Amino acid sequence: MPRDTDIWHTLSQHGARLKGLPIERLVADGGPSRLRRLVVDHDFLRVDAGRQRLDDAALDSLFDLADAAGVLAQRDRMFAGEAINVTENRSVTHWAWRQPVSSPSVEQTRARMGEWVRRLLARANQPSGRPIKSILHLGIGGSDLGPRMVADTIAYSVSVHSQIDAYFAANVDGHELQRALDRLDPKATVVSIASKTFTTRETLRNAQTVMAWLRRGGVDDPLSHCVAITSEPQRAQAWGISPDAIFEFEDSVGGRFSLWSPVGLPARLAIGETEWERLLAGAHAADCHFRQAQAHANLPLLLALIDVWNHSILKLPARVISPYDARMKLLVAHIQQLEMESLGKQLGPDGKTAPHAQCPMIWGEPGTNGQHAYFQWLHQAAQEVAMEVLLVAKPRHSFDAHHAILLANGLAQADAFAFGKQPAGQLADGVGGQLRRLPGGRPVTLWCYRELDAYTLGYVIASLEHKVVCLGQLWGVNAFDQFGVELGKTMAQTVEAYFADSNLDFVPPHLSETLQWFKNARP
Ligand code: F6P
Repeated sequence: MPRDTDIWHTLSQHGARLKGLPIERLVADGGPSRLRRLVVDHDFLRVDAGRQRLDDAALDSLFDLADAAGVLAQRDRMFAGEAINVTENRSVTHWAWRQPVSSPSVEQTRARMGEWVRRLLARANQPSGRPIKSILHLGIGGSDLGPRMVADTIAYSVSVHSQIDAYFAANVDGHELQRALDRLDPKATVVSIASKTFTTRETLRNAQTVMAWLRRGGVDDPLSHCVAITSEPQRAQAWGISPDAIFEFEDSVGGRFSLWSPVGLPARLAIGETEWERLLAGAHAADCHFRQAQAHANLPLLLALIDVWNHSILKLPARVISPYDARMKLLVAHIQQLEMESLGKQLGPDGKTAPHAQCPMIWGEPGTNGQHAYFQWLHQAAQEVAMEVLLVAKPRHSFDAHHAILLANGLAQADAFAFGKQPAGQLADGVGGQLRRLPGGRPVTLWCYRELDAYTLGYVIASLEHKVVCLGQLWGVNAFDQFGVELGKTMAQTVEAYFADSNLDFVPPHLSETLQWFKNARP
């Protein structure tokens, strides 16, 4: 086995060799055997990376890199409960929350939550008195995006009717909270306060405001309408939540991986018990695949190697995700946090530069809307980016003609990105012809879902979590910490103190004028 540095060198040689070649030539030359290596086919999901700028030799080197970097050994350490979050000396155990039978502590919390949900649903259906109809979930980042995305994606579908509607407020921006509260009846609302640390300013501020709103709305004991979801039960208790209304998860469950833990509560209520179980089952199936599949057929590993290729070798700065399904709008935001907060780093855990770490910017909007907004840039700007196009075979509506148009657009765009177009005939002439030329060469991975159901969604999210584990190892960064977000939080507290104090003498000169401007502009 060649050394790690030799393999990176070989990979850059492959990159230089393949960079100028049209992707369609790679497709034609590679034939069906190349496709077999780049397509992962499950009954419910097909991932087709055939439009990547890769050939057999480059793929061989990528798998050599995975071997040399010990990616699958890192996977095994994670499932063995070793402290692979080395900078915080923690194991990484989010996957334990989707095992059919898990550790005693997980099982105990699950049983308590199950009981709580049953009681809540009984209150939702009670014939007399005012039933509980809604849950308002307060949390931000990983304590918000996962459950919000699942609730939105699955409950979007007309065929899922839940007894409890889920509302979310993450931002400390009062507009977001106001909009949620305007739609809610205090006496018919329970509130889940989700914060792993139970220190997050936005969440605790929102929670305080909601307590006052409940009281104003005639709820004599607002805390009786609340549950806390946290790794720090003492802090939640000190805040006033009673121990039997606290659902705890371990600090080895990272925020952006915490959907499966009690953090998923609002999604569970929004989509119902059956769909929630299907989500966990899909995620568990992805765990089994990641643990058992051979390297060459291992979906998370293949996805990670493609990212290494596109971003570290071909130096593409971004990956644009285009779901051709409006229900997946928030999936992009979830993936953005999962990948960018995990991998947006340039130092290894030893504090030394990790020279190949190149986490891409991730963004995107549902198609076909994106086509009419920023696709021009994607097709013809000087910067090239990698693409993912997400398509669903069976929608949950009955407008067949719409769906045919949607699918056709997604597939057409994938080909236009990868293969480009030289206009023919009269259109090809002169300057006009040049301007109409699409260079192509943008690598594309197609995700084809049979249906956007809870099982498939669970499988996809868990697979992407595993991809992040692989990428951390390939890039030599710890995917489980997030020190970069701390400074801004501390600084905000200082600026808040400036706002509170009428004496601005102690404000640094570069801030004082602007601060004074805000003070004057506010009522
Ligand atoms: O933005 C940083 C972060 O720590 C995320 O990683 C986390 O998901 C979010 O803030 C919320 O943190 P907490 O769950 O502790 O309130």
